[in-house]
Amino acid sequence: MRILVTGASGLLGLNFCLAKMPDHEIFGVTNQTRLHNPPFPVINFDLTKDKTVMNVLDQTMPELVVNCAAMANVDQCEKTPLLAAKINAEMPGRIARECAQRSIQLIHISTDAVFDGVDGNYRESDPPNPLSVYSKTKLAGEQNVLDENSQAMVARVNFFGFSVSGDRSLAEFFLNNLMSGKKVSGFTDILFSPMYVNDLVDILVEMALKKLSGIYNIVSRDNLSKYDFGIMISEKFNLDGKMISPASCLQSELLAKRSPNLVLDISKLLSTGIEVPNVDLAVDHFYNDYKAGLSDLIRSFNKTE
Ligand SMILES: NC(=O)c1ccc[n+]([C@@H]2O[C@H](COP(=O)([O-])OP(=O)(O)OC[C@H]3O[C@@H](n4cnc5c(N)ncnc54)[C@H](OP(=O)(O)O)[C@@H]3O)[C@@H](O)[C@H]2O)c1
Repeated sequence: MRILVTGASGLLGLNFCLAKMPDHEIFGVTNQTRLHNPPFPVINFDLTKDKTVMNVLDQTMPELVVNCAAMANVDQCEKTPLLAAKINAEMPGRIARECAQRSIQLIHISTDAVFDGVDGNYRESDPPNPLSVYSKTKLAGEQNVLDENSQAMVARVNFFGFSVSGDRSLAEFFLNNLMSGKKVSGFTDILFSPMYVNDLVDILVEMALKKLSGIYNIVSRDNLSKYDFGIMISEKFNLDGKMISPASCLQSELLAKRSPNLVLDISKLLSTGIEVPNVDLAVDHFYNDYKAGLSDLIRSFNKTE
């Protein structure tokens, strides 16, 4: 299958493009980041610009588009809400429309944060209630995608892994600080179900082959607090977990409001027969990839380093 991955310099998009998939031909779209010698074809385009999506699709003729491009920095979205709406809400709608017109399969990446996190254990059919500019624009993006393209799949995700900047994911935050002997805080009042990014990539490809459509929750089987996740990372990498202090996110002064309980019900995903790892196994996979040199490989694409 010819797969076009947008956001190919981002945490998810880059790991997707690097995945070993001999049966598939993958190429990526980046915007401002120039990757240094990536082992896959890349084109640079600002997909918010008029007609760019059309040109990219006509130029690359994919059979599947995986839309990982977004403004995914939650606090940045609060500062630039109009740009966040353009990237997270309008752009996905345009991609969905152009894909529908060409009968190209589409997977659009969304977020667990469309829920307010009061109750947790959310099903796909539960009413969302986004709290921040990021989550409001992501929810609008989901709606635009499904309005424009009824065959599209919308994936509500939460993941960690290695990024080109080296500091994009929560796991990297704990790892970098603990490895350099720095103390950090871990939130005890945010529950989530993080998936290792490369497990997510495998699952997305399986779902694409099954030609699934509609909204799917795609997160780990179990859940934990961000503090406990930090402790799990410290134990796996044999680092000092005492350097992580328990802290409250809800009483902190972060710009964007966070949802406290982001646990999602994944029974719809499990009913497809696809295997879903728990967080323990996800951290094992993250550790194994670290030992195999994936973190260094990914950082080597950063031209500024
Ligand atoms: N990280 C998480 O834990 C998490 C959790 C829930 C949901 N998600 C969702 O997962 C998806 C991927 O997130 P991520 O963490 O991989 O994001 P990321 O690391 O911040 O990467 C974002 C990507 O989007 C690209 N992009 C931004 N504006 C663009 C534009 N105008 N035209 C073309 N490309 C553009 C960026 O390209 P340049 O860098 O080249 O400009 C970059 O490659 C997003 O939809 C996000 O909302 C992420």
